[in-house]
Amino acid sequence: MYVCLCNGHRERDIVEIARTGVRCARRAYDILGGQPQCGQCLTFAQTLIDDFHGESSAGAASAHTPSAATA
Ligand code: FES
Repeated sequence: MYVCLCNGHRERDIVEIARTGVRCARRAYDILGGQPQCGQCLTFAQTLIDDFHGESSAGAASAHTPSAATA
C-alpha cells in the first residue's frame, strides 16, 4: 500500500526504515530520498513508525519535531 503518493513511498518502505532504528517520519523520507510535498501522509507514516516501535502515536507530532528532540 502506498503511504506517500507524492514520493511513491510504500508502507513496507517506511517499516523497513523504522527497522533500522529511525523514529521520525521526516527522517525516514530523507533516507528514502524524498521530501514531503503536500504533507498529507506524514501522520500515517509516523503512526507506522510508532507502531513498529510499540509506541502510542498520541502526541507523536510534537514529540518528533526537531526542537522537541533536542530538549
Ligand atoms: S502524499 Fe506524501 S507528501 Fe504528499
